[in-house]
Amino acid sequence: MTEHFVSETLNKKDPEFDITLRPARFADFVGQRKVRARLELFVEAAKGRGDVLDHVLLSGPPGLGKTTLAHILAEAMGANLKATSGPVIDKPGDLAGLLTSLERGDVIFIDEIHRMQKAVEEYLYSAMEDFVLDIMIDQGPHARSVRLNLPRFTLVGATTRSGLLTAPLRSRFGLTARLDYYDAADLQAIIARSARILNVDVDEAGAREIARRARGTPRIANSLLRWVRDFAQVKADNKITRAVADRALAMLDIDEHGLDEMDKRILETILHKFAGGPVGVSSLAVSVGEEADTIEEVYEPYLIMEGYLQRTPQGRVATARAYAKFGLQRGPPRPE
Ligand SMILES: Nc1ncnc2c1ncn2[C@@H]1O[C@H](COP(=O)(O)OP(=O)(O)OP(=O)(O)O)[C@@H](O)[C@H]1O
Ligand SMILES: [Mg+2]
Repeated sequence: MTEHFVSETLNKKDPEFDITLRPARFADFVGQRKVRARLELFVEAAKGRGDVLDHVLLSGPPGLGKTTLAHILAEAMGANLKATSGPVIDKPGDLAGLLTSLERGDVIFIDEIHRMQKAVEEYLYSAMEDFVLDIMIDQGPHARSVRLNLPRFTLVGATTRSGLLTAPLRSRFGLTARLDYYDAADLQAIIARSARILNVDVDEAGAREIARRARGTPRIANSLLRWVRDFAQVKADNKITRAVADRALAMLDIDEHGLDEMDKRILETILHKFAGGPVGVSSLAVSVGEEADTIEEVYEPYLIMEGYLQRTPQGRVATARAYAKFGLQRGPPRPE
């Protein structure tokens, strides 16, 4: 795709910035209370037994804290973390190299684990379950398999698209945690924390305004804070108030409900091209030029949570709130 959405920029990974603002311990990790409580318990139990932490799968839309939690888990276990990602490990040999370099208790973090090659994934099964790798060496008549014993390790997998994970892989995780969008209060706390770290002067109403428009996503909240800080530096004496935040965000075309361009395009397509729906996700995907899985796992959950969209057995339907947002009347009822 050649087009660039504001949201893509705002939710883009920025290693330096992410690291500065990334909480390093559970105590600094705001929100996601249930997930956090489960992970903390899981760690405490493993540590209490002097055991290695079982494998953990973290799923959820981009920018909600999966990578952050992987680091927190390793830190809490007092373990080293080695990070890689699904598309990077492109042959079984790469995986063998990685796994054989681990020490007992190490955490290996595989980001975008749904994008791992099938052939590589199959090697992971025995590695995760029995801590062995059966490697084929040679080909044809000389082909034979050798078994390598691995140290006990923890695999932390992250995925934005849990639906794409195969059942055998999924079943090998001891704990699966799904992250959800943050509410405005938690985002406000994250913004206040980031503002302290970056030494930015933002009052409560200013932080609340940014939080409201951050699409439930900490990474977007931090990017917006950075933009508003720049705006305040140039136009408002370095002080972020609600009015300053509002002017700064208006300049970026950030919707007052935090919808981004793809969100709006999805809703407008349903309203205009499909008369409000129902429309199947694959037709919708073709019309907006995005993959169906991405629509389902990245965009829809937010639109559904905010009450703009409903999933029905017949397909996606725009709600009264969606009509109102675009200043439309509901059309005449369609014949059944
Ligand atoms: N619970 C939280 N409390 C405070 N800050 C957070 C929290 N979650 C995420 N962040 C901030 O948001 C940034 C993005 O989080 P992270 O990189 O962990 O997201 P991710 O889920 O791995 O995203 P992606 O799917 O794009 O890899 C972090 O650098 C951190 O600054
Ligand atoms: Mg990540």
